[in-house]
Amino acid sequence: MGVSLFRERLAREFDERTARFHTSVVEDLRIFEEDIDGTEAHDIMLHERGVIPLDALKLILRALEEVREEWRRGEVRIGAEFEDIHEYIEKRVIDKIGVHAGGMLHTGRSRNDQVAVDVRMRVREEILETAKAVLNLIEALLRKAEVHVETLMMLYTHGQHAQVGTFSHYLMAYADALIRDYQRLMDCYGRVNMNPLGAGPVGGTSIEIDRHRTTELLGFDSIAENSIDATSSRDWAIEASAACSILMSNLSRMASDLTEWSTREFGYIELADEYSSSSSIMPQKKNPSTLELIRGKSAEVFATLLELLTMVKGVQSGYYQDLQGTKPPLWRCFDSTRTSLEVMAGIISTLKVNADRMAEAVKGSFTYAVDLAEGLVSEAGLSFRESYRLVAALVREAIDRGISLSELEAGDLAEASARVLGRRIEVKGDFIRMVTDPYGSLLRRRSLGSPNPREVSRMIQERKGKLEELRHILAERRSKLERSRKLLRGTVASYLEGNEPKRG
Ligand code: ARG
Repeated sequence: MGVSLFRERLAREFDERTARFHTSVVEDLRIFEEDIDGTEAHDIMLHERGVIPLDALKLILRALEEVREEWRRGEVRIGAEFEDIHEYIEKRVIDKIGVHAGGMLHTGRSRNDQVAVDVRMRVREEILETAKAVLNLIEALLRKAEVHVETLMMLYTHGQHAQVGTFSHYLMAYADALIRDYQRLMDCYGRVNMNPLGAGPVGGTSIEIDRHRTTELLGFDSIAENSIDATSSRDWAIEASAACSILMSNLSRMASDLTEWSTREFGYIELADEYSSSSSIMPQKKNPSTLELIRGKSAEVFATLLELLTMVKGVQSGYYQDLQGTKPPLWRCFDSTRTSLEVMAGIISTLKVNADRMAEAVKGSFTYAVDLAEGLVSEAGLSFRESYRLVAALVREAIDRGISLSELEAGDLAEASARVLGRRIEVKGDFIRMVTDPYGSLLRRRSLGSPNPREVSRMIQERKGKLEELRHILAERRSKLERSRKLLRGTVASYLEGNEPKRG
């Protein structure tokens, strides 16, 4: 396709290696249609401001639609002979309709505001898709949680037995974290969905433009006003990557729990075969490798955050070619985050839960020491610290005698209290057995947010309502984008048919 569009001032072409080094065509494929939409909106606006005559606009729009068709049919072949997709599309239009009409396409615009508008349009889409995947995972967690409200499970701190909880309560912890992840993404969306088009190279343009019109046609919520800021800033992209990174840190911790609980030693859960792999040599193996990959992918996503931050930090204000490099990490960030979310939702939905193994692990545990200590506060009127000392002595005694806490008798308690506190504490005969019963321990903890089945059921119901609300917010954003897409499509169609579209 002949010589480059943008090198008139230069006597020689890039050599082949430099051209390959310089081009962004590969990462630009992801903004191919955004670039066409952005150009159509810009040129329609220019026509409406009297800058481009109707017949030229029609030729441009028809050529752009042809390029879109070529792209959709998979016929586009682009290589390093193009600096980027922007050059390819403009060149293709000029080849089709000539440089008089086609040459009007880029009036009052720079690739600097152009690339920013394309990437913002793509990122808003990626955010909505990711947010949807977050909601699907929350739904999977809620469904699983509903059937395990009474499934006793040990809770750990420092990897040691801490208190008795339930599997449901555990799942709900991550449902709550993911709700915040969703909110972070959607907050960020508002700062992504701002229109930089019309900022020109860095300081605006003398061409009569209307930035409100392109904002409307492209479905932006507002305008990225200052032309330096609009073309130079990538903080909105960094913020999206930060939101994904935080989200991935949550998935990664979850993956660690579930990997550990899949071991023979724990045996709390088993992944469905569809989410497991085996070994090339050890025929007995069933590996939770999908979880391991999710944990691994978190590193990839965190790396995109650092890559983006490092990429922009030394870039002076205004566009510099460094900014071209912000696209690949962004795409990687969304790809890894979304697939991780989707796979995790599948893992959760198909997870086998071994309630018997979990119940076994809570039996005879010394975690009931807390329950005993708290029970003595109300039963015997001890201060908590007195009670704590007494129970610590009882724990030592039980360990020495090789028995569990629940096997201690009221008499053991009376003797120990005389020794430790200098007075005999008498409790009812079945007191110790009662407070050291796993299920009883769970029921006696009724504090807000605790694993008590009633509390967890309440939280599940509450979060189900929340999920509906979040789905609604997502649907509204989607339909707003859909409305603007229809507006742009309808406007393009009217001009192609030769009518000035109605504007309202
Ligand atoms: N390919 C460039 C990018 O991806 C487009 C903007 C180039 N602008 C320029 N003045 N060289 O960022």
